[in-house]
Amino acid sequence: MKYESQKIAQNFYTFAVLLFLVQVLVGIIAALQFIWPDFFPLKFNIIRDLHINALVVWLLMGLMGATYYVVPEESQSELWSIPLAKFQFWATVVAVTAVVLGYIWMGFDPQANKFVAGTLLLNEGREYIEAPRWADWLIALSVILFLINNFMTMYKSKRWTGIQGTLLGGLTFLALMYLPGMFYTKSMVKDQFWWWWVIHLWVEGAWEVIAGALLAFMLMKVTNAERHVLERWMYIEVGLVLFTGILGTGHHYYWIGTPKYWLWVGGIFSSLEPIPLLLMVWDAFRTTRKHRVVTNRLGLFYATSHAIFNFVGAGLWGVIHTLPQVNKWTHGTQITTAHGHLAFYGAYVLLVMSMIYITLPLIRGVNEFNTSRGYRSFWWMTISMIFIVLTLTGAGMVQTYMERLIGLDYVTVKATYNFWFWALRAIFGVGFLYGAWLFVIDFFKLGKEPVEVTSTATETVA
Ligand code: HEM
Ligand code: HEM
Ligand SMILES: [Fe+2]
Repeated sequence: MKYESQKIAQNFYTFAVLLFLVQVLVGIIAALQFIWPDFFPLKFNIIRDLHINALVVWLLMGLMGATYYVVPEESQSELWSIPLAKFQFWATVVAVTAVVLGYIWMGFDPQANKFVAGTLLLNEGREYIEAPRWADWLIALSVILFLINNFMTMYKSKRWTGIQGTLLGGLTFLALMYLPGMFYTKSMVKDQFWWWWVIHLWVEGAWEVIAGALLAFMLMKVTNAERHVLERWMYIEVGLVLFTGILGTGHHYYWIGTPKYWLWVGGIFSSLEPIPLLLMVWDAFRTTRKHRVVTNRLGLFYATSHAIFNFVGAGLWGVIHTLPQVNKWTHGTQITTAHGHLAFYGAYVLLVMSMIYITLPLIRGVNEFNTSRGYRSFWWMTISMIFIVLTLTGAGMVQTYMERLIGLDYVTVKATYNFWFWALRAIFGVGFLYGAWLFVIDFFKLGKEPVEVTSTATETVA
């Protein structure tokens, strides 16, 4: 680590990994509630909100931490204002905690979610962005402070690298795309239309742009590959992400009451979305093969795995149900849930983890650290996730058949589902929790334990 201010990344990472544990724990509660609905004092609706909101928030915190590391390094200067970054961090922690307490309160007393000044006090009910309006404003403010701090750092240093420009471009896009989720319309069609701008243009637009920039940064960091080559591929990847992903939004407009042309636009553009993701995989392998000296093998392992599972989870598990001809059968079933899990895991959970494994040793000033726990964590999480996703895909196929082909109603299907689908998801969920737990322990211990002889940080790839 070259700049003192890069240390601020650690605050964001710490909050992120703790929320990650909360996310997975409540995920298991949600899975058990499929078998025993009254299993826990808080009901499924609240547990599900906590699961997916914790996911989004911890990933955002992780990406913010990563940015606070990357921008000073690329700008070759200290961060514009460390107190501002600290304030932004603590303000976010307070706002997020308040929102969580609000959800729990609502869980025990649903009437508490009242209308105040035309908006709901505790939970707005829009999936993934359930936070109430007052919290939306605080989140927007936090993101604006974060962007100002990083832009000022870049502006003052006058060093505009492609990597940090793309990173901040993606983050600005992310911030702007929060706004369509913040206004009210009485039409459900319009409400859904704008809501997808947030959800889809985040994960298949802004966040993938950020992933492209961070992938280039990580490959450069651990293999010493030439910047201009990595940046050239990054521009191609990011350009294709936007070209396919923006109009790809149409794959959510098939059945919500929007005009018919979306069937064509959505089908064609979203089918192309896997291409840039495949390029990222190729990029990772090409760079690794060419530059055989690796300074952080575990970090590179995570970064490459991120590229692979981004392609598999988002690209493959996305493209299988993206054509309207297929989606009319599978829409909103457990197949969607299977894709949601593998895509978020591969694209963003592994992205934040690889940034942590690459930057944390540098922040803590260690050249060598034990890597065995990091690998074990990866395999526990990844194998468990693969089985969760296979289980959900199977459940989704049965659901599609019973509901859409035989025509049974939703509740009947739910009641007659094979018990083992839900049991297996819960069991593999516990395997995932174990992997996540290993990672969190590793996060706190990294660089603070004596290094085993077998693990060296600088190795040559055979
Ligand atoms: C990293 C990127 C991605 C993430 C994190 C992601 C995540 C998700 C999630 C969570 C949903 C469910 C939304 C809901 O609650 O209704 C969803 C839906 C969907 N995704 Fe993705 N996705 C990604 C990329 C892709 C790609 C590249 C494709 C296509 C090639 C795709 C195709 C779809 C389709 C068609 C649906 C709608 C399913 C339905 O009709 O129920 N996704 N995605
Ligand atoms: C990093 C790991 C995980 C990620 C990225 C993740 C992501 C998600 C997402 C995006 C959704 C909403 C999906 C949709 O509506 O289609 C969801 C729902 C859910 N997740 Fe997870 N999850 C993870 C781990 C887990 C674990 C370990 C379990 C426990 C077995 C779990 C259980 C559930 C359940 C039961 C739901 C509700 C599904 C439904 O409404 O049908 N998740 N998760
Ligand atoms: Fe989408």
